[in-house]
Formats: sequence, C-alpha cells, structure tokens
Amino acid sequence: MSRDVSAELQARQPLTEHGGVRCEQALWRGQTVFVKTLLSDSPDLQARFVHEGEVATRVACPLIVSPLLCTPRHLLFPFVPGGTLRERLDRSGPLGADEATQVTAGVLLAAAHLHARGVTHQDLKPENVLLAGGQASTQSVRVIDFGMSHARGLPLDIHSGTRMGTPHFMAPEQFLGLRGEPRSDLYSAGVLLFDCLAGAPPYEDALGWLAGVHDRRAALPGPAALHEVLRAALGRDPDDRPASAAQMLALLQSARAALGLAPVPEDLCP
Ligand SMILES: Nc1ncnc2c1ncn2[C@@H]1O[C@H](COP(=O)(O)OP(=O)(O)OP(=O)(O)O)[C@@H](O)[C@H]1O
Ligand SMILES: [Mg+2]
Repeated sequence: MSRDVSAELQARQPLTEHGGVRCEQALWRGQTVFVKTLLSDSPDLQARFVHEGEVATRVACPLIVSPLLCTPRHLLFPFVPGGTLRERLDRSGPLGADEATQVTAGVLLAAAHLHARGVTHQDLKPENVLLAGGQASTQSVRVIDFGMSHARGLPLDIHSGTRMGTPHFMAPEQFLGLRGEPRSDLYSAGVLLFDCLAGAPPYEDALGWLAGVHDRRAALPGPAALHEVLRAALGRDPDDRPASAAQMLALLQSARAALGLAPVPEDLCP
C-alpha cells in the first residue's frame, strides 16, 4: 500500500525540479531529510524512480546515502549538509594530492561495497558525491544518486530511457551500451581523481573520445606518483584498468606512500 508521505513532511524547502522529479529539504519525524518526489505519470519515469529506490535500499554503508523510506512517489534520504564535491571544486578550485586521493579512496570504498552486492553505480561524478561537513576526506564521502545504476537480479532495464550519464565521466563501453561492468565505475573514479587534481576532466571533447574519433587527453595532473593509477583507470579497454575497486585503492595507497602521505582508512564501508 502506498502512503501519503507528503502529510508527514514539514518545513519543506524546494531545491530543484526537473525531469519529472522535485527535490526538497524537509523535516520528517524530527529529522532533516532530502526528499525526491516523482511528479510525472510517465510509466518509464515511474519504473526508474522505483528502481532507484530499490537499488539504493540494497546497499548499506556509511559512505553511501541509503533511503529512509521509499514509496512509489517519494524517496526520503537523510539530509547530508556540506555540499557536493562539484560545489567544492567550483568554490575553491582543484584539490591537492592528499585531499584528491582521500576523496577518490572514499568513492572506491563505496564502489567496492556496491560491486560486492552486484550493483554498479554508473554515474560516479563530483555532482553525485556529497562531502559531509564540507570536508574533503575519505570519511566524509557520501555517494548518492542511483538513478543510472544497474543491479544484478533486478529485472528492469532502465537504461533504454532518455537519461544519459555525463559524457566526461562515462566509460567508453558504457557509452556503447554495456551495463553492469564494475570497471566502468573505476573509469569514472579515475576521471573524478583527474578532475579533482586538474579542475577539469581529461577530455575537452569527451564525446569524440568516447566514439573513438580521437585520443586527445589533457596532460596528467598532480604529482607523477599518481600518474600510474590515472593512466590505468582511464584505459579505453576495461582489461587495461585495475581489476577491482580494491586493486585501484591499493594503487592509490602506494601512490600516497610514495608521496609521504598516511594510508587512508579502509574499514569504513564493510
Ligand atoms: N541526501 C542528500 N543531502 C543533501 N543534498 C543532497 C542529498 N542527495 C542529493 N542532494 C543534492 O541534490 C542533488 C540532486 O540529487 P541526485 O543527484 O540524487 O539527483 P539527480 O537525479 O542527479 O538530479 P539532478 O539532475 O538535479 O542532479 C545533488 O547533486 C545534491 O546537490
Ligand atoms: Mg545526480
């Protein structure tokens, strides 16, 4: 039975509205929540909305924002103050090697958790990473937005619809239609690290690179110790990338050690 959650929401503050979905901040049972409300009656959008809630409910890890409540029209999440990684980069410019690798490590720990549960996120990018409390640290990472994700065992193929990932962060095989490949998330994590260090993603003409028209990548940013992991994660062929999120994290940890930085904690997302 669907319930009318609207009646339980107080102090509603609209944030955005597009694609048939309204996002708001509100109070729900004494807690500040982030609310997504489906406004559209399109069966395609309804199915994708339910799918987003189901996938996000499957995962439970401190580095991922899971829903408090899912109904056919509403998704309620704990509100995470601090803004997105994108907002942070826009506000203060590129991150140094320490913060950039800390944040990427948090994204990889969340990805490892997802992949172990048969979920690929497929839309990892700075807009979909919240930094709790505004800190650019591993512990502060909160991955959001399962609107593009793929979950093994869930029947629905939601990806034939209109929503496309951002080309800059999308792996070439994902662009060609392949779904459910965990190493696509590693490519996105590589672009995210690149963007954190450089202040811009690697390909100005991302669509041209995705389509195989050119290989004109910007110079690898940051210290040389990070170039191996960047080069590997950004490989066109998934076989050229690290085999898993854990392996990419190990490369990041080695790079941090070479830079004299302490290892990031790895026990945050069991
Ligand atoms: N739990 C949360 N707490 C605080 N802010 C959030 C939360 N979840 C999402 N946001 C904010 O809302 C934005 C949109 O959320 P989300 O990425 O889940 O939706 P979306 O489908 O990508 O919508 P959009 O196309 O507007 O980005 C995020 O980029 C972030 O700024
Ligand atoms: Mg998003």
